[in-house]
Amino acid sequence: MESAQRHRVIAIDGPAASGKSSVARELAQRLHFVYVNSGAMYRAVTWSVLQRGINPTDKSRIAQLIATLKFGCELKDGELRLLIDDVDLTPQLHEDRVNGEVSRVSTVPEVRQVIFNRLRDYANKYDLVVEGRDIGSVVFSETPFKFYIDASPEVRAQRRAAQGHRDQIARRDRADSSRSASPLIVAEDADVIETSHLTVDQVVDEIMKRLRKKNFRVAG
Ligand code: C5P
Repeated sequence: MESAQRHRVIAIDGPAASGKSSVARELAQRLHFVYVNSGAMYRAVTWSVLQRGINPTDKSRIAQLIATLKFGCELKDGELRLLIDDVDLTPQLHEDRVNGEVSRVSTVPEVRQVIFNRLRDYANKYDLVVEGRDIGSVVFSETPFKFYIDASPEVRAQRRAAQGHRDQIARRDRADSSRSASPLIVAEDADVIETSHLTVDQVVDEIMKRLRKKNFRVAG
């Protein structure tokens, strides 16, 4: 049985390119919480799998690899980043090949377990804003502060294109929502925010308003 985490966690889940990262980062800055992008952690593992020439469908080989990797982390500009074998893989995380295989690699139980454990561990040390797919539903299901950020498929496709990334977001969303392990769902007690017609600041304002209603203490 895992221990209760000692710090506050705000969970931000939602589909690909829904604006989660910008919102979560800005929210963390306003609250002086540490920002964690769990999607980046799955991407880093996926890059490591591909870099070694491992077939992303070979779950047992991926599980073996996970057991040999050294996982660390670095706090940089208010963000906790996963290090694999002492390397921050951030520049590689949006390569086309990573976009193409991350949903598949994310279904491997040993991959999910290692990232789950790291996220729980982070919450023993810091107040966190964590974004992902299963943060409010599984990883920090006990937090009262959980949000599901959505936007129309058209707006999400535009947002991703504006970032200059080629990414088949509809395909990833289907895979992430239909898998059996920790699928993307709206947690029962999550606040859903439709962001298609809102700016990042407006979404963060809305989250702050709803946090106050949940008796979240905002410092200052
Ligand atoms: O957030 P981002 O789109 O970068 O996430 C990349 C992929 O990582 C997702 O499509 C999903 O397959 C996986 N992921 C996950 N669970 C999370 C966060 C991301 O399975 N909590």
